[in-house]
Formats: sequence, C-alpha cells, structure tokens
Amino acid sequence: MNEKQVPLTMAAYRLAVLPGDGTGREVMSEALKLLALFEEKSPISFEIKHIPCGGQYYLETGDEWPKGSFEYCRDESDAILLGAIGWPDARLPNGDMAGGQTILGLRSGLRLYANVRPVKLYPGVMHKVHGVHKQVWDPKQVDMVMIRENTEGLYHSLLRRMEQRALGQKDDPIVIEEFPGLDGEVAWDPRPISRKGSERVIRFAFDFARHRQKKLGKPQSITCVDKSNVTRGCQLFRKIFREFSESNKDIVTKEAYIDAFTMWIVRNPEQLDVVVLPNMFGDIATDLASVLQGGMGMAASANLGPKHMLFEPVHGSSPKYAGKNVVNPIAMLQSVQMMFEALAYRAEDKNLDKCADILQKAIQSHFEEGGIVTYDLGGNASTSEVGQAIADRCEKLLIEEFQ
Ligand code: IPM
Ligand code: MN
Repeated sequence: MNEKQVPLTMAAYRLAVLPGDGTGREVMSEALKLLALFEEKSPISFEIKHIPCGGQYYLETGDEWPKGSFEYCRDESDAILLGAIGWPDARLPNGDMAGGQTILGLRSGLRLYANVRPVKLYPGVMHKVHGVHKQVWDPKQVDMVMIRENTEGLYHSLLRRMEQRALGQKDDPIVIEEFPGLDGEVAWDPRPISRKGSERVIRFAFDFARHRQKKLGKPQSITCVDKSNVTRGCQLFRKIFREFSESNKDIVTKEAYIDAFTMWIVRNPEQLDVVVLPNMFGDIATDLASVLQGGMGMAASANLGPKHMLFEPVHGSSPKYAGKNVVNPIAMLQSVQMMFEALAYRAEDKNLDKCADILQKAIQSHFEEGGIVTYDLGGNASTSEVGQAIADRCEKLLIEEFQ
C-alpha cells in the first residue's frame, strides 16, 4: 500500500436518513446518490441508517416510525437528514398530524432551536414574483438567511405533545379555560415565548451574522421580526433582541412588525441579511420569501440545537406530484450542502469542508451556466436528471480536489 491508499482512520459520520412522505422520498434518493459519490471520491465516509416514517408509514403500519427511532436519532447519529412529512388524511386519533412525531418530536426533543433557512436567488434562476417567470430581482439583491425560533411560540403545545409521544410519555392534560365574551365551541393554542428560548436563538443569530460577515467580507445586519405592538410574547422577544443589540454594537440591527415585514421582503429584499423571527412568523415568512429564490423547490434548511442537527428541504411532501419524478431536488441537495458545512464546522474537518465547497460550487455553476431545471423553474427535466447533473459536476470537482 502506498501512502495514498492508507485509509484515513477518521470515523464515518453517522447519518439518520428519514425520507418520509411523498416527494420527500424522491428527493432523498437524489441525496443518497450524492452521498455515495462523495464517499467514493473523497476521504469522507458515512454510516447511514434508513428510517421509514411519516403519514404514509402511519397509514400502512399504525406507527409514525419504528420504535427506537427517536432514541437512534438522539443517541447514535451525528446528523439527521429528512425528506418531507405530511400526508392528506393521515391523522392521529386526537386529530394531530400523523408523522409529526418525527419532525416536531425531533425539533422539540432534541432542542433544535434554530431553524436556519437561507433565501438566495442563484444567477440564472427566475424568481416567482407575479407567479410567472419574469425577472424583477437581480440575484445580488436576494441573499438573506431567516432564522426561525423552532421550539416554542404558537407551536409549543403541538411540539410538546409530539415530544411526549416520541418519548413514549402521556400527553399533558388539556387545560380548559374560559374565554369571556366568546360563546359556543372554542379551540385555542397558547403561545408561550420564554426568555431562555429567545436568548438562545437571538444569540445564535448574532453569532451567525458575525460568521457571515467574515465569510462574505461585507457587513451583515440583523432584523428582528415580531408583533410586539400587540402580543406580550413578542414584547419579550424584542426586549431580549434589544439587550443583544446593546452588547453587540459591531452588528447593525433593525426591527420590523411581521405585517409590514411581509411587504418589505418582497419590495426591498436587498436590505435584508440575517432575520430572526418567532416560530410561526418564521414558518410563514420563509414560504413567502421562497418566491424570491425561485419557489419552494429551492428552499433548504438546517434545524440546529446544542448537540444535534437535522436538515430538510422546506417544501412538503407535495402529494400531487408524488411518484412522478418531476419535483425539484435542489432544496434537498442544498440541505445536504448545509449538512456538510455544519458537520465540518463542528468536527473541524477540512476535507468535509472542501466537500461542502464542492457541492456549493456545483449548484451555483449549474444555474450560472444554464443547466437543466425542473418544471417549477420553467424547464422539463426530471428530478433524477437534475440530481444527476449536479452529481456530474461534483464528480469533476471531487477528482480535481482529491485525486
Ligand atoms: C415547515 C413545515 C412544518 C412546520 C409542518 C410540516 C409541521 O411547514 O417545516 O415549515 O409547520 O413547521
Ligand atoms: Mn412551513
């Protein structure tokens, strides 16, 4: 064996792979092909555990995922890769979405408090303002990252129920309260926002902005988006944001109410860099913002916590397109890119960092050079053809870098 053939002693990254429902499965198979390629052509290796899950799995088996899956994700994986969760009519007996244990149980149970959702328009990609392919924004004008609080707010009670299910515990008892002035049947969701929960995600946003500042070599502002003119939870959120602004004077800070912010995203995206929002506002604003980057097929995400991380495309399972091999795999592949970057950062792994750069370059150059695209971006290529085109670009770059 010459020097080059000596295997690196570095252990493999342990990945929990959860394709989930509908088109989640199709985009996941593109991700898996890419992982196999990186394993073959770089010093990195993965130990992959496939876990079936979601609403469809529930309809077939009566379980949201096999027993022990939560524990596997918690105790034996370095990162979790998720396709999509949610299937029409797949409901638990209490009415909650079936499969929620996977996505919401993991977000809550693993304290994945920062949901990082980049909104970036690649050169060559048409955004979808007006619902048609017409270029209004220059790609340079759309490059922001939304950071959504992921463990409390309006999702709190559902997150908690899902975490309890994942841990095999009983649901919290339902507390009935009276709402003076309201008659008849009332359903409501509490929206608790805590100091601790706000501090950790706002601290993350400041650290993230500083990191981006260094990486991009230009100043990054942080915008706090809330509804503090109306709700107490948001008043606390903004108060904490201001405390951080006071002690982080190197970062420019801005504030907005969510209603006005929805106009701002569409009218002046070039003014936004890092944005931090409470849970439900972040859910809504990221779907809206995806229009600026070419739609949901382009929207990737990372769910990060103190010890764990989960990566997923923001689009759902798109039942209408499931099984047709037509949806855009880029959101998934970009989520894999985010996973490489985050794992490399945590493990201080230079080789994996190179892989992250390679995948980024492959996606960027694919669009810049007018590579094939799926229907949502105005093309007619299939999911697997686009996946293959990205893989081909990665292969070339991997050979240049590692062989
Ligand atoms: C998302 C999704 C989820 C959410 C659903 C599937 C529970 O819309 O990740 O944005 O509401 O958070
Ligand atoms: Mn959503």
